[in-house]
Amino acid sequence: AIIRRADYRVPDWLVPDIALDFDLDAARTRIWSDLSVARNGDHDRPLRLDGDGLVPLAVKVDGCSLDETEWTLEAGALVVPLSGATHKVAVLVELAPESNSKLMGLYASGGLLCTQCEAEGFRRITFFPDRPDILSRYSVKLTADKARYPILLANGDPVEQGDLEGGRHWAQWNDPYPKPCYLFALVAGDLACNADRFVTMSGREVALGIWVREADLPRTDHAMQALKNSMAWDERVYGREYDLDVFNIVAVADFNFGAMENKGLNIFNSRYILADPETATDIDYDGVEGVVAHEYFHNWSGNRVTCRDWFQLSLKEGFTVFRDQNFSADMGSHAVKRIEDVRILRAAQFQEDSGPLAHPVRPESYMEISNFYTATIYNKGAELIRMMALMLGAERFRAGTDLYFDRHDGEAATCEDFVRAMEEGGEIDLGQFRRWYEQAGTPHVRGLLSHDPVSRTAELLLEQSVPPTPGQPDKRPMAIPLRVALYDPATGSHHGDQLLMLTEAQQRFTFDNFASLPILSINRGFSAPVIVETNRSQADLAFLSAHDDDPFARYEAMQQLMVNVLVGQVAGQSVDVTAVVDAVRNTITDPLLDPAFVAEAIRLPSEAYLGDQMKQVDPDAIHAARDALQTRLGADLEPLWRDIHARTKANAFAVSPAAKGARKLRNVALLYLVASGAADGPAIAYGQYSDADNMTERQSALATLASGTSPEREAALDIFFNRYSDDALTLDKWFQTQAFAFHPDTVELVEQLGQHRAFTLGNPNRVRSLYGAFAGNQWAFHDKSGKGYRLVADCIIALDKLNPQTAARLVPPLGRWKRFDEGRAALMRAELQRILNEPGLSKDVTEQASKSLEG
Ligand code: ARG
Ligand code: ZN
Repeated sequence: AIIRRADYRVPDWLVPDIALDFDLDAARTRIWSDLSVARNGDHDRPLRLDGDGLVPLAVKVDGCSLDETEWTLEAGALVVPLSGATHKVAVLVELAPESNSKLMGLYASGGLLCTQCEAEGFRRITFFPDRPDILSRYSVKLTADKARYPILLANGDPVEQGDLEGGRHWAQWNDPYPKPCYLFALVAGDLACNADRFVTMSGREVALGIWVREADLPRTDHAMQALKNSMAWDERVYGREYDLDVFNIVAVADFNFGAMENKGLNIFNSRYILADPETATDIDYDGVEGVVAHEYFHNWSGNRVTCRDWFQLSLKEGFTVFRDQNFSADMGSHAVKRIEDVRILRAAQFQEDSGPLAHPVRPESYMEISNFYTATIYNKGAELIRMMALMLGAERFRAGTDLYFDRHDGEAATCEDFVRAMEEGGEIDLGQFRRWYEQAGTPHVRGLLSHDPVSRTAELLLEQSVPPTPGQPDKRPMAIPLRVALYDPATGSHHGDQLLMLTEAQQRFTFDNFASLPILSINRGFSAPVIVETNRSQADLAFLSAHDDDPFARYEAMQQLMVNVLVGQVAGQSVDVTAVVDAVRNTITDPLLDPAFVAEAIRLPSEAYLGDQMKQVDPDAIHAARDALQTRLGADLEPLWRDIHARTKANAFAVSPAAKGARKLRNVALLYLVASGAADGPAIAYGQYSDADNMTERQSALATLASGTSPEREAALDIFFNRYSDDALTLDKWFQTQAFAFHPDTVELVEQLGQHRAFTLGNPNRVRSLYGAFAGNQWAFHDKSGKGYRLVADCIIALDKLNPQTAARLVPPLGRWKRFDEGRAALMRAELQRILNEPGLSKDVTEQASKSLEG
């Protein structure tokens, strides 16, 4: 069945209050739910409570038991005819959390019982109108064996607790803020707490708790610091204060995605909570900080103001990603954070937008909502908010968000509500801008700069087009904010940064007072999520890579310089590589640059990004060209790499931005040094591996070795495995590093790793570490034998029987067949077809595979 945005109707019945009574046990949990229901409007339709795999063991209306003729089950939902305007409806169900392998609803993870309800998991716990526009006040009672489950947590504030006979105990939690059921959560288990406190701007004291297995307690300090920083940041930047007496976070090992913002009780994939220098890389540290902030920020952008329906998902996700991105930028480097975010956007969202699964930020229809937790909803959604913030300026943007929060507090809102608040609070017309929510596909912008010596003017001709996407053959022009500056090559400086609004298919902008043709710096700061094409020469790009005062544009010029060389080589043109060598040399020898920025700028574009620049992706040619350029840079600048590598050896470990930047640069230097082919390369990498006092350097050295065939490779992999074989999160890196490596036998290695005793389909992190990483390894995954496709399809088929949500996330790489040669395309389609032939395939995988096959 297809759900359509246009079919939205207000609910027939509201549920102002719900009381839940859980008798928890891994094998047999009994749940009484007590709903106060109220007829919404004038109609005579029955009460319909969604259910997924539930059987009502008892149903009562206003205290009287119904017999089985007085209710029906329709497609899993419990339907009860009711006569009055308000009633009390109580239902008893029974669950077996330990056999819930989908990790949606109530499930067991390593001895804990926990929940995941977004988007539609609550209906796997109890019968309820499972839609985000039903807001209810929850009171929750948990009863369980005290030895096994000494800690009992739920949303809101703790009210009371007590002991019972037979070694059991109970706890009562009440959440005063009405919320949709997707924000419901409970956790029961043997957990240790990192306890702290935060005093809000109005002086309210909040008890903070991060709950983990006892052994993990020493790895929770970074998350706690991130939480306190987030709370202070949201007060300072958005004026948003926390609103309960407690804020709890629980880390669980088995989780379908990153984390969940349940009111007052966030539940996290442990990989986004646990961090220490021994096991976490700097990327992991940043991931913890960003996700802790993201979930915390949802308390306002998501919980206090929630979504009317799931088509509005980007209302909370796009805005919250924008908020967490800016928070992380404030905690570290704005320039580097922007570069990282754009790299992620291009790698995940641009690919999505140009393939069979492209959809608007506000989709029109879906089969399975879980498939729409996408880079488009999250990351492109964040770019839309960023563009509005740019067009409004900081003050008016804040006026807009104040209006939005005030106006919609306690409501289930829409993307349109957000845009209207920006228009009214920010005093701007966003009429055309709304197309960003409607039209899928990444806009292409062509910028042609010309010069007229007579009038001493420069003219910028801008053209835009949005490519067709599934269901949207024709597109209208978008409102595209482009930050632009024109450099005078004579002076080496520009005449000021301007914001141009491109709103027509074609538009001309004129600039006065240029004696000669200036150099165009465009889409500075990546002001719009578009693909820009220009008539800039390699010399122009080299100039910008050395002089642009916008760090993103400077990085971009460097990358474009490299892309032009590599794409040219793949196309068989003879190209001048020296411009790239010179630009890299200039960058690494510029003493004024931040090392973290240098490391970003000198990295070669990924193979996947290079593929995206070509009409048809040739994975082997791309790999060969990129590898050769890496070797050339390594060899030509070898003494510099040695020098950087020696110079960045840290004395004592720290997680400061400066220390992280030094490690980033050190790791890139190692990569180039080994790529140079220097005889002692592998030994130096092995030395870094052995000597490192932190996982960032250790993992990087391992990755560098894993892409080669030296004896040091096997030695380091063995040592790593033995050292971390009982630490799941760290062992994930062992799988991931090998699956992502440029080793000639990667396909065979991945096949063997899938059979490894430490591999399991039961843990989503492990699956993603192996098959997710492999599917992102363009050269290996697209091996022309088709074996890579088969491995991933086999995994999807097997995993679908356990965990359809996580299985469905592996499908998109197979859907990119249109971008490859006929041989590969046929092999990819055959695997998609084989998946679809599987009997009993889930809705999740069916939607992704069938859309992918249609193309
Ligand atoms: N709301 C969560 C977050 O972004 C993610 C929920 C993902 N749910 C899903 N079914 N994929 O923080
Ligand atoms: Zn989110």
